[in-house]
Amino acid sequence: MSKILYVSSEAFPLIKTGGLADVAGSLPIALSNLSEDIRLLLPAYPQVLQQVENVKQLASGAYYNLKVSLLETQLPNSKVPVWLVHCPAAFDRPGGPYMDSNGQPWHDNALRFAVFCKVAVDIAMNKLNLRWQPDIVHGNDWQSGLIPALLHPFKQRPATVFTIHNLAYQGLFDHQTFLDLELSSELWHPDGLEFYDQLSFIKGGLVFADRINTVSPTYADEILQPEFGNGLSGLLQHRQARLSGILNGIDHSVWNPATDPHLAACYDTTTLQQKSLNKTALQKQFHLPIDAKIPLIGMISRMVEQKGLDIILQAMAEMLAMPLQLVILGSGDIHYEMRLMEWSRKHPDRLKVIIGYNEPLSHQIEASSDLFLMPSTFEPCGLNQLYSLRYGTLPIARNVGGLADTVVDASKQNRANTTANGFVMTSQSATALQATVKRALTLYAQPDVWRQLQLTAMNGDFSWTHSAEHYIELYLQALADRDQTAD
Ligand code: ADP
Ligand code: GLC
Repeated sequence: MSKILYVSSEAFPLIKTGGLADVAGSLPIALSNLSEDIRLLLPAYPQVLQQVENVKQLASGAYYNLKVSLLETQLPNSKVPVWLVHCPAAFDRPGGPYMDSNGQPWHDNALRFAVFCKVAVDIAMNKLNLRWQPDIVHGNDWQSGLIPALLHPFKQRPATVFTIHNLAYQGLFDHQTFLDLELSSELWHPDGLEFYDQLSFIKGGLVFADRINTVSPTYADEILQPEFGNGLSGLLQHRQARLSGILNGIDHSVWNPATDPHLAACYDTTTLQQKSLNKTALQKQFHLPIDAKIPLIGMISRMVEQKGLDIILQAMAEMLAMPLQLVILGSGDIHYEMRLMEWSRKHPDRLKVIIGYNEPLSHQIEASSDLFLMPSTFEPCGLNQLYSLRYGTLPIARNVGGLADTVVDASKQNRANTTANGFVMTSQSATALQATVKRALTLYAQPDVWRQLQLTAMNGDFSWTHSAEHYIELYLQALADRDQTAD
């Protein structure tokens, strides 16, 4: 059993902007079920404080002259302790964890997450009298990137693991910010935190962590290539011996069509015919023609370039000319939101676009749809295709990252050996997307074939069980690597 401090800037159900929250809200529970002694460290955003109960103060102090206290509570529906970095000046404000209500990054993000990292380092070095010192500090994405860099100089330190959920977000700030954060001048170096004259938070993890991993094996390979490396492929090649990929799991207590409280009708593999009741309920809700037979394609996504919105928009006219309905839920870049809304105004009987963030609706769309659209340009893991598989909703996905590791194309051969569970596009173009949708509709017209694809999808095992065991192995490797480095 190891003592693990799991550091994340979001965790479901307390605060969520994307898949990182789903992982941080479920992997610690899976590790705890495997008898690991794990604590989750999270900023105390107002949304978090509103939800938690039985809060206890563990310690208090000041970082960069800002008052900070460390609070203890529990991850809802679990025994996992959550430690909250309560720094009102940094975290107690309306808006999101990283951006204000106008979608602009908070001007002081570097300071906010430097405070967060420094608290993690003090816990790691047992400076807060908590009577609990971790063996492993496991950080996630750039918001916790400074931790391995700050811990590295200490002789007696926990081992560090750093997970890349998305290399496109790096936490880049100017040199003045580096000076303002009073980081050691030795770190201003290409072998440290400097990235082309900027301060890079993520490099703290990539350069200094004992072990680095990504959230799928394919993405771990892809980021070694300049095409997917966001300027960091050289560094990652250099650290390749310490880099691996572990596929994310999903939380079956939250994403299960047999028990999901948000659905009009629950179903499983033995009651699959009930699934279409969800479709008719959604069609009714969104004033789409009610027709259980028409194929419904769903999409739930941050509206950013990564998610393939450019080719979706390019292919929209052709797609809407096919006999199908499309329901898209998401928010993000305003120009994608506006163009999708335009299409939806022109084709109200075919396309419904809902701008916003809506957890219950995301479950309803997963259950109602026959197909799920995920033509990402890159995808470190992707959780929505996993939820789709579980809900018998066949993904249309690009063969990149975690999508390549989880979606098996419905080719003749894969259908014959019953491994097929979706539709894979092998290039990123509107033409490829249209052709793949067309191919999917042809099989949709063959109910027996379709049912087999659904059953294969629903029977796939994407639970955390195996992946959590891989994380335990990774922790042991990190401990061994730390000891080797210290020798
Ligand atoms: P990413 O983390 O890159 O956004 P993932 O597929 O890993 O992609 O995870 C996205 C998560 O966020 C899923 O749980 C998805 O359902 C959820 N999500 C994204 N956009 C919305 C939205 N507008 N409303 C509700 N849930 C959303
Ligand atoms: C990131 C990635 C996504 C991944 C998620 C959780 O947001 O974009 O592919 O599933 O992190 O690891």
